[in-house]
Amino acid sequence: MIAAMHTGSYSLSDLVRRLAEYENLFEIGGRLAGTLDVQTVLERALENAESICRAETSSIWELDEERQELFFRVVRGKAAGALRNLRVPVGQGIVGSVASSGVPEMVNDVASDPRWRGDSTVFQTRAILTLPLVAEGQVIGVLQLLNPMDRDRFTDGDLRRMSLFAGIFAHPLQNARLHMAQQRQFFNMVTALAETLDKRDPYTGGHVRRVVAYSMLLGAEMKLERGDLKNLWLAATLHDIGKIATPDRILGKPSPLDREELEIMKRHPADGAAIVSHLHNPAVLQGVRNHHERVDGKGYPDGLAGDQLPLVARIIAVADTYDAMVTNRPYRAGLPPEKAAREIVSSAGTQLCPSVVKAFRTLYKDGRFTVDGGEEVLRSITEPV
Ligand SMILES: [Fe+2]
Repeated sequence: MIAAMHTGSYSLSDLVRRLAEYENLFEIGGRLAGTLDVQTVLERALENAESICRAETSSIWELDEERQELFFRVVRGKAAGALRNLRVPVGQGIVGSVASSGVPEMVNDVASDPRWRGDSTVFQTRAILTLPLVAEGQVIGVLQLLNPMDRDRFTDGDLRRMSLFAGIFAHPLQNARLHMAQQRQFFNMVTALAETLDKRDPYTGGHVRRVVAYSMLLGAEMKLERGDLKNLWLAATLHDIGKIATPDRILGKPSPLDREELEIMKRHPADGAAIVSHLHNPAVLQGVRNHHERVDGKGYPDGLAGDQLPLVARIIAVADTYDAMVTNRPYRAGLPPEKAAREIVSSAGTQLCPSVVKAFRTLYKDGRFTVDGGEEVLRSITEPV
């Protein structure tokens, strides 16, 4: 009976169905607003887009405002591999036109659209549904669905549902992007601070950068979560920040330090911990304070042993020790990498943590223990905004 009743131009069953759709969209909006991580927002949005409108591939293009280009962070479905590294200038192609006009487009026969530039060999596009993501009056990206599944064409219903979805999803994406921009600014500030300090030491130029890169490699090899890798990055970047209080005559001494000088030098982890305590981040505090500890308990400043030693500190210790060994000093030449690697392996269980050394060994054996490799890991946790 319900199907027979009409309300204005819609049947009651139509209205009931639409109400259910709105309810679903409302729930999705709530879930998307619950995170500030861009990657998570994008992944959840794509999952939901696919549940609302089944398509072979779905993607969200983000606007790189500086370069006026669209790029991907997340792509799902059949064409994911072919699309991942693509960048498209605003105004170019269907996706670029939607980014510049801010108007959604449904193209059910792409081959006849003059803006269409063809496919890669692995995927054949028939139809495209493209919607602008607008937040605070600005296009911040584009949502695109390729090839409807189980049917030939996208419909006006698909366009309507996806337009509503795009409207709901643009704001959580914008919030997450702003959050990421702030984080990036923080990362840059911290890096600038650490590099300024690094320049005070005339003999170990680039030490911080290398320790950060090696720490990232070790952390990724040990399967640390993204959040833990970020903490590790911060701790590694600031691990020697306490040297700001070490006098120049000691820091720049061209010969080995005497006992008294060594004691002054050994204050830097505790001094550094006092500085980073302002960040209220326990993992970073421990990483900075305990990077000169040893697993046999003979390190400083706390003499922590074995499992008492936080993982962040154990990882930085391996990265720091390796770099210190291969770096030249005025009074001694650095070790060749193979010799330093052997020393690291033989220090497992006394100075260094066996699990971290195991990760080091794998990376080194595979030729992956490189600064470039570590910086690639770093880029993966601090992506473009
Ligand atoms: Fe240090």
